[in-house]
Amino acid sequence: MPLVTMTELLEKAEHGKYAVGAFNCNNMEIIQAIVAAAEEENAPVIIQASQGAIKYAGLDYITAMVKTAAENTDIPIALHIDHGTSFEQVMRCIRRGFTSVMIDGSKLPLEENIALTNKVVEVARAVGVSVEAELGKIGGTEDDISVSEWEASLTDPEEAKVFVEATGVDALAIAIGTAHGQYKGEPKLDFDRLKRVRELVDIPIVLHGSSGVPADSIRKAIELGVRKINIDTNLREAFVNRAREVMAEKPDEIDPRKILGPARDAMKEVIKEKIRLFGSSQKA
Ligand code: G3H
Ligand code: 13P
Ligand code: ZN
Repeated sequence: MPLVTMTELLEKAEHGKYAVGAFNCNNMEIIQAIVAAAEEENAPVIIQASQGAIKYAGLDYITAMVKTAAENTDIPIALHIDHGTSFEQVMRCIRRGFTSVMIDGSKLPLEENIALTNKVVEVARAVGVSVEAELGKIGGTEDDISVSEWEASLTDPEEAKVFVEATGVDALAIAIGTAHGQYKGEPKLDFDRLKRVRELVDIPIVLHGSSGVPADSIRKAIELGVRKINIDTNLREAFVNRAREVMAEKPDEIDPRKILGPARDAMKEVIKEKIRLFGSSQKA
C-alpha cells in the first residue's frame, strides 16, 4: 500500500494504548529487516532517516527504497525524517514524498523553537504530512554533563503545554532521562514528569534514545502515553555483531551477501522483539 502518515498510525495506537516502533534506516538491508519484521508481526511501523542516513545513502535512494518496500506490502508504513534540523531539509523530504517529519528545534530558545516548528507545521498541514517536534534536550549517552545540567535539559511540562498549543504539532518528543546511544548504566526515566506532561498535553508522546531502556520502563512509558518509540542503537548492535560473527567464522568469505544477509536476519529478530514489547503486534 502507499505510505501512510505518522498521525494515522499514532491515532490508532492511542486508541489501542500501544506504541508504534520507529526504526532508523541507512541502507537496503535495514529497510528489508524492518519490513520483514513488521510483516511477521503484522505490525505498523515508522521507518525513519536521520540527517546522517540521508548523507550516507542519499535522499533519493532512501525515499525510493522505502516507497518500494511500502508498495510491496500490506503493512502500513510511514516514512519520517528523524531530527530534521533545518526547514530546508524538511521541505526537501516533503517534496520527495515523506509522509512525516520531525523538526528538532530543541537546541533553540523556546520562542525560536516555536517559530521554526510553526513554519514547518504550516507547510506540512497544507500537504497532509505529520509533524513531530522536540522540547527538552535528548542528548547522547557520551555527553559529559553535570546532574544540574542534566535536570535542566529535561522537558518542563508547563512549557510543553505552551509549545503544543502554540504549534499544533502532531507528536511531541520529550526529554525524561533517555539518551541516544549505548547506556553505561541503567537509564532512569522520570515518569512523574511524563505523567505531568501527559496531563497537560493531549497528543502522542515520543520516546527517543529507547535502545537499552529496560522492558518494564518501556511498558510503563506506554501506559503513561508514549506512542512512538525510536530505536536505532540496538539495531546497529544486532547487525554489526552478527556480521562480525560471520566474518570470524568464515574469514575467507568475500561475498558481501553472505555477511549482510545474516546481519539483516539478526536485526529483524531484534525488531520483532521490540514490536512485541511495544504492543503493536497484530495492529497493522
Ligand atoms: O537520533 C539518532 C539516531 O540514532 C541517528 O543517528 O545521526 O548517527 O544517523 P545518526
Ligand atoms: P537509540 O539509538 O538510542 O535507540 O535512539 C534512537 C533515536 O532516538 C532516534 O531518533
Ligand atoms: Zn532521537
